[in-house]
Amino acid sequence: MNTVIPGQSQRVLSGMRPTGRLHLGHYHGVLKNWVHLQHEYECFFFIADWHALTTHYEDPHVIEESVWEMVVDWLAAGVDPNTATLFIQSRVPQHAELHTLLSMITPLSWLERVPSYKDQQAALKDRDLSTYGFLGYPLLQGADILVYRAGLVPVGEDQVAHVELTREVARRFNHLYGREPDYEARAEEAVGKLGKKNAKLYRNLRTAFLEKGDHEALATARALLERNKNITLGDKERLFGYLEGGGKMILTEPQAWLSPAPKMPGLDGRKMSKSYGNTIALRDDPAKVQKKLKTMPTDPARVRRSDPGDPKKCPVWPFHQVYSDDKTRDWVQKGCTSAGIGCLECKQPIIDAVLVELQEIQQRAEEYSRDPMLVRNIIADGCKQARDAAEQTLVDVRAAMGLGYS
Ligand code: TRP
Ligand code: SF4
Repeated sequence: MNTVIPGQSQRVLSGMRPTGRLHLGHYHGVLKNWVHLQHEYECFFFIADWHALTTHYEDPHVIEESVWEMVVDWLAAGVDPNTATLFIQSRVPQHAELHTLLSMITPLSWLERVPSYKDQQAALKDRDLSTYGFLGYPLLQGADILVYRAGLVPVGEDQVAHVELTREVARRFNHLYGREPDYEARAEEAVGKLGKKNAKLYRNLRTAFLEKGDHEALATARALLERNKNITLGDKERLFGYLEGGGKMILTEPQAWLSPAPKMPGLDGRKMSKSYGNTIALRDDPAKVQKKLKTMPTDPARVRRSDPGDPKKCPVWPFHQVYSDDKTRDWVQKGCTSAGIGCLECKQPIIDAVLVELQEIQQRAEEYSRDPMLVRNIIADGCKQARDAAEQTLVDVRAAMGLGYS
């Protein structure tokens, strides 16, 4: 499960490919989680437009349109641009630079054995995916993560292998390039940035650990670093390493952070997904939502109103699990198995709940849609912040790889 390792970077990073309007599956599976995380961690959320090109290079117009619609959907869902940094991958060229540099040290076999590689190629047979870009997809994703020294990567199950590859690449990089050359001087400089009182405390705790093996002092010093908001993540890494007498890890190994939300069912009982045509889009109007829910299939055993059914065999039941309380679920159980309620009656509380949920989202979407300049500015600001953060890592990476000319 999701546990934070001490000393782990507290920065969150996640991305989404722009492939059309978002639906309730994205909302319950991803966006609600982002909204929650943005209050607890420093968050970077981005639109993976290059990743979309790896599979959709033949229809670029879809990407362009989807990018802005997707930003609006994020904002409508409650992602707060004042708290989280929102940006577009292709506006931060450092991702591409790191991708190129990492490609030098990544064995081909690591990419070839990522499970999604062969699976996706087989699943998307109508596209020619025997491209260099597609093979490199997970490494580009690795660069997305490593360029921010992100520690936590909220993703779905299907992405865990990519985060795992990212860890291996980071480990290999750190192994090959290890300590930065002028490590001690840089670490000392970073201690200075902690502030007078904390710098003194840090030095004392470090000595206590290095000279007497005092583990409590080590833990206290780590906590001190974790709390500190004045120093960059690069300096933080340096000081974590310096505490134990080692070098600074240039790249940070991230952890996948699986979303706690239940999987959102689709209208046909399968997972909600655009490719199944079983979605409710965040911006479907109320009439459309009602119609979709009213006509969705139920337990096939209930041909007539008087036939009893079994919620376990009904695609409506998982919706009750997402939207209803115990009392309503109990009412469904009893009413369905005894034919005491009709299916439309059973669906009504869900229809009501979805409409209420979407109303707030759609109102916000409407406001942002009316002000495209605001949306553009939010992203422009986010891209700038992202470039600044990414550049800090690149400075270290270039130096480590012998490219730190000045
Ligand atoms: N591959 C991810 C997906 O399809 C999107 C993505 C790209 C991503 N880069 C990332 C997710 C970095 C997390 C971190 O969903
Ligand atoms: Fe499904 Fe509800 Fe109808 Fe039972 S009563 S079959 S749970 S819609």
